[in-house]
Amino acid sequence: MDVVDDRVPPLTAGDFEHLRAFVLNATGIRLANGKQHLVASRLWSRLRALQLHSFEDYVRLVTTGEAGPERDWAIDALTTHETSFFREAQHFPSLVEHARRHRGPRRFRVWSAACSTGEEAFSVAMLLAGQLAPGTFEVLGTDVSVPSVEAAHRGVYPLDRAHTIPPDLLRRYCRKGTGPWEGSFIIEPTLRQHVSFLALNLCEPPPPSLGMFDVALLRNVLIYLEPAEKLVMVRNVVDHLVVGGLLLNGHAESVTGLNPELEPVVQTVHRKRARSAS
Ligand SMILES: C[S@@+](CC[C@H](N)C(=O)[O-])C[C@H]1O[C@@H](n2cnc3c(N)ncnc32)[C@H](O)[C@@H]1O
Repeated sequence: MDVVDDRVPPLTAGDFEHLRAFVLNATGIRLANGKQHLVASRLWSRLRALQLHSFEDYVRLVTTGEAGPERDWAIDALTTHETSFFREAQHFPSLVEHARRHRGPRRFRVWSAACSTGEEAFSVAMLLAGQLAPGTFEVLGTDVSVPSVEAAHRGVYPLDRAHTIPPDLLRRYCRKGTGPWEGSFIIEPTLRQHVSFLALNLCEPPPPSLGMFDVALLRNVLIYLEPAEKLVMVRNVVDHLVVGGLLLNGHAESVTGLNPELEPVVQTVHRKRARSAS
C-alpha cells in the first residue's frame, strides 16, 4: 500500500500531465486524476537520489529522452509491482492439467507476461518441475520495468515472502540465505535453469524471437490500462500463444470480448482457437 509522505513537495498540474504522457507512452497505463500526491510521493526518493531540488528538473530529465537509466527508474516508480508467490492459485490446476496433456518433442513453454519481480514465474516453474522432466519445459518472465526484471533475475527474496509457498516446494526449491543473504531465501539453481527474464513492453509487438507459448499469464496488469491499450496488449500476447494455448488473467480483470481468437474455458481462463478460414 502506498503511503503519501507529508514532506513531499507538491507536483504542479503541468508536471503531472507531462508524467502522465510519459507513463502512457512507455507502458499503456493512464495515471488517474487525483494521483498527483501519490506520484510525487513515489518519485521523491528519486529526486533525493539524484540531488534534484524540484519535480520540474526531474520531469525535464525523464521526458527529454536523455534520461538513460533514470527512465527505467521512473517507469518502475510509477507502476505497481504488487505480487506474491502462488498468487491467485485458482489458475494452477488448469495450468498443471494443460502441461500433463502436452505431447511431442517441443518444450512446454509458459510466459509470465507481466512478471514483476519474478514470483509468478518461479511459482509456475515449481509446479511444472513436479510434473515434467528437466529440460522439457521453460518459463519466461517479462516486464516493462527493468529494475523489476533485474530483481527477478537475481531470484533472492526476503524470508517473509516465503509463507505462500507450499512447504514441500519451499524445501525443494528454495535455500535460506546466509552471510550477505541473511534474512533472504534464494531460488535453487536446479529450478532457475528453467526460468529466464527479459524486459519487454507488452504494448509493443514482441520480437518474433520470443517464440510461441502454451500458456500465458497476463495477470493484474490489464486493470491499470486504458481500453485501447488493453486491446493492444491482449493481441500482442495472443499472437505468441499456440492454437489451443491458454491465457490466464487476474480475477479483477476480464479479457472477454477483447480478442476474437479467444474462447472462454472457465472464469479468467481462455483458450486460443484456430482462426476460421474466411
Ligand atoms: C501488479 S503487477 C502483477 C504481477 C503478477 N502478474 C501478479 O499477478 O502477481 C503488474 C506488473 O505489470 C507491469 N507492467 C505494466 N505495464 C506493462 C507493460 N506495458 N508491459 C509489460 N509489463 C507491464 C508492471 O511493471 C508490474 O510489474
